Amino acid sequence: MCGIVGYVGNKNAQDFLVSGLKRLEYRGYDSAGIVTLSDEGTATLIRAKGNISNLEEKLAQNKRNDKIGIGHTRWATHGEPSEINAHPHQAGKIFLVHNGIIENYKELKKTLNEHEFKSETDTEVLAALINSFYKDGQHPLTNAVVQALKLVKGTYGIAVVSELDPTEIVVARSGSPLIVGVGHDETLIASDASALVGHTKQAIYLNDGEVARLTKNSIEIKTLSAEPVSAKVEEIETNLAAIQKGGYDHFLLKEIMDQPESLTETLRGRIHAEDGTVRLGGPGLSETELRKIKHLIIVGCGTAYHAGLLAGYYIEKFTPEITIETVIASEYRYRQAYIPENSVALIVSQSGETADTLACLREIKKQGVKTIGIVNAIGSTIAREVDGGTYVHVGPEISVASTKAFTSQVVAMVMFGLTIAQAKGVRNSILRPYVSEIAKLPSEIAKVLESNRDLVQEIASQYKDFEHAIYLGRDTAYPTAMEGSLKLKEISYIDANAYAFGELKHGPLALIDDRFFEIAFLPDGELYEKAVSNVQEVLARGGKIVAITNVDKFDLDVENVVKIATELKIFAPILMNLISQLFAYYITVAKGLNVDQPRNLAKSVTVE
Ligand code: G6P
Repeated sequence: MCGIVGYVGNKNAQDFLVSGLKRLEYRGYDSAGIVTLSDEGTATLIRAKGNISNLEEKLAQNKRNDKIGIGHTRWATHGEPSEINAHPHQAGKIFLVHNGIIENYKELKKTLNEHEFKSETDTEVLAALINSFYKDGQHPLTNAVVQALKLVKGTYGIAVVSELDPTEIVVARSGSPLIVGVGHDETLIASDASALVGHTKQAIYLNDGEVARLTKNSIEIKTLSAEPVSAKVEEIETNLAAIQKGGYDHFLLKEIMDQPESLTETLRGRIHAEDGTVRLGGPGLSETELRKIKHLIIVGCGTAYHAGLLAGYYIEKFTPEITIETVIASEYRYRQAYIPENSVALIVSQSGETADTLACLREIKKQGVKTIGIVNAIGSTIAREVDGGTYVHVGPEISVASTKAFTSQVVAMVMFGLTIAQAKGVRNSILRPYVSEIAKLPSEIAKVLESNRDLVQEIASQYKDFEHAIYLGRDTAYPTAMEGSLKLKEISYIDANAYAFGELKHGPLALIDDRFFEIAFLPDGELYEKAVSNVQEVLARGGKIVAITNVDKFDLDVENVVKIATELKIFAPILMNLISQLFAYYITVAKGLNVDQPRNLAKSVTVE
């Protein structure tokens, strides 16, 4: 959600700012802007509505060789996407870029009569507030920023520069990530490490409540209450190949096709097919602690929530005496839910920055419950605040719709469930089939993707003009249906909903008509025949069914069928979800829409 970059050094700042913003564009892309300062302190502010290419066109007319600057790509919260609302915002001699939301901006604005507001944003209020303490350079910029932030309620990651000192950038964070890249005679900033890749490998992750003054060869970090902080320099793990499209037309397709490799990374060193066991180091729970677990709360938003639902269905199949509750973070944070003794919470987030998920983590921790992160982004806020965790290690996921992270989140949570079951003494003969299927998943994923890609593309083209879709499944295929319908609506804008097959006759069956098509997930297993009867009910009402099944003898007279040839039984729904991912992708391409940056959405939602 929004991206920040900044540069101070000896090179051309515009070049880094634009290339960094392009890397962050997936986080927000309705407007963008940069400001650079000459050695004398003259500011050049360029902003444009729309994506970074619009900004680039304007910059081509305004080439500068300035050595310091800050930039921003925006996902609108306050004020429509427009040039005037785009960051950086100016007040007096200072310029500010901001991620997050200033909740008390209306009250603060009333006190800032001297500033003539041009935009509708909360960010301009913060700029004016900082300027009111800076008084055109009568006080050091860092002090002005600190005084202003002490009055602010809300979340922020900010960067500020002043025309009066073109050698320094002041940054601060509370609830919105900011990373300082440490270079040779240059200091860089970014809200996401991917913007720094190729420039430096050394980074400092600011913590909430910290403010830093940066020059090209110094970094001074303090808390808001002026305590000095000794910075921990960490290594950035991402590499250039991981943040490029690698020959695919879109990041989404690359990330779907990446899954054999990304899941292999998730499993590395953790799954031991030879003896049918799992070893996870990260959660940091002793055997005794694992044995005691009676209740699992799984928290996430969007795709991460669906991953939690699916993992929950699996874990309760093999773990005795355990209850599992998978919850939507934005709801759970305000519930008065009772958490029973011996509970553990799994906090699931690809970005590790989702505001609602982070708020839940903090609430749950207050109650003394152990928290385990299922996170992808290394060093992210959630990863740092949980008691223990299992990184999914899928590498950067750039496309807004989450694909490879989902698959690995499900498997990582199932592995955590297996770890509990092992500690509780569940017989190896019960757990072994799960372990051996997990070990085979990467190669089965590769097979399913390769052998069905063309077929799915052809089927998708038949449904591109439909307005409504219904996804249906039961048991583990139900969360699979939910995730499939989310993928479709996110990127193709087709109104898609998921229902448990058994719920059809309690309402949704009334919908079936010519404007709808239905995707039915039919994995082999105990409930297959029941699901087939449900499909018959839909067919009898003129439904247009696309069946996804691993039952070879499937012979219902449906419009289309994708038969998945796999030796896997337990995890067939994970393979079926790949078909949903490809289906959503190809329908969106057929409709000519922006696959990687769907309208109104952002990759990492750092505001409530
Ligand atoms: C956004 C993204 C979704 C994602 C959700 C949770 O809404 O568009 O794809 O599933 O956030 O993100 P997280 O980073 O916490 O997994």
